[in-house]
Amino acid sequence: MRYTKIAQGQLEVSTVCMGCWALGGDRTWGPQDKTDAIAAIHAAMDVGINFFDTATGYGNSELLVGEALRDRREEVVIATKVGGRNLTAEKLPAACEQSLTNLGIDCIDVYHIHWPSRRVSVDETVRAMEDLKAAGKIRHIAVSNFGPENLSELLPLTIPAANQLAYSLLFRAIEFEILPACLDGDVAVTCYSPLMQGLLTGKFGSADDVPDGRLRTRIFNSDRADALHGEAGAEKETFAAIAEIAEVARQAGMDMAVMSLAWLLGREGVASVIAGARSPDQIRRNAAAGDLILPANVSTRLDEVTEPLRETMGANADMWEPQSASPIR
Ligand SMILES: NC(=O)c1ccc[n+]([C@@H]2O[C@H](COP(=O)([O-])OP(=O)(O)OC[C@H]3O[C@@H](n4cnc5c(N)ncnc54)[C@H](OP(=O)(O)O)[C@@H]3O)[C@@H](O)[C@H]2O)c1
Repeated sequence: MRYTKIAQGQLEVSTVCMGCWALGGDRTWGPQDKTDAIAAIHAAMDVGINFFDTATGYGNSELLVGEALRDRREEVVIATKVGGRNLTAEKLPAACEQSLTNLGIDCIDVYHIHWPSRRVSVDETVRAMEDLKAAGKIRHIAVSNFGPENLSELLPLTIPAANQLAYSLLFRAIEFEILPACLDGDVAVTCYSPLMQGLLTGKFGSADDVPDGRLRTRIFNSDRADALHGEAGAEKETFAAIAEIAEVARQAGMDMAVMSLAWLLGREGVASVIAGARSPDQIRRNAAAGDLILPANVSTRLDEVTEPLRETMGANADMWEPQSASPIR
């Protein structure tokens, strides 16, 4: 496993972070076996992963992460998130205390603003987070889903430890404006849904095979399941790209999921990939990306075969909402 520095060099984390959303067993992911969840977190540590990402919004994920990491607190970097109404100066301290209690820890290593808020000024939230930092409740302030305008409001106040963004071979929207803005501002990028919610493992042959909870994203047609985005999606381009990516992996003799994660880790500005996993086998497989550096010709070929999808989906970095409704600016 390779390691990298975030928070302007102050924090060393594994390049593969374990994403713990699905472990919460919510509406998007369906039920999760608790024994498997805890075993997956332990398997992650056994293969060198020291970075774990959760949020209050992920069902009972914080509780599970806390339980699994209880005896090994000193070995790990725990990231969690706060959002919505809890971003006010009044509510933030109690939200933070709740996360600390759920996780069974005294201090959160990386505390993210989950999404930019339209109601609460970023100035108010950052000041309240600085107070939490001064009180020893959090170590680093981070953000998620911040676009160029959101960043230009944030950066005079603080440089976040990272900006957590949706990024994968099937969702390259941040390349247009956000990744360059992060590079300019010296903000490390951590990538969420790096397997596009499992699609890049190659296990779904068509959109009809994808479980309902995952059909909400904008790559799928808005007629499907609970989608609210009202757009046409890009199902044809997505499954054409998946077939091409599978062929690149076959020719290179690589595991498709591992190759897809390694492609991200080769992009300038990307510090870590937050790969979700629901079992020890999945996280062991994903962790191999932390040891793989893609040959330039494989990486370039992957750029090429996903370019038509990149063009179709455009620069909207919100996986679920149309640009007009997204808080990502
Ligand atoms: N900041 C934000 O707004 C935000 C938003 C979304 C996610 N996140 C973070 O990013 C993390 C990762 O994103 P994500 O969970 O949406 O998607 P992901 O990492 O792209 O996909 C994870 C899912 O794919 C399947 N999978 C993973 N590895 C596999 C393997 N090797 N073989 C077969 N299937 C495999 C698993 O689900 P099945 O086994 O059920 O198929 C797993 O839950 C989350 O856990 C969360 O921590 C943050």
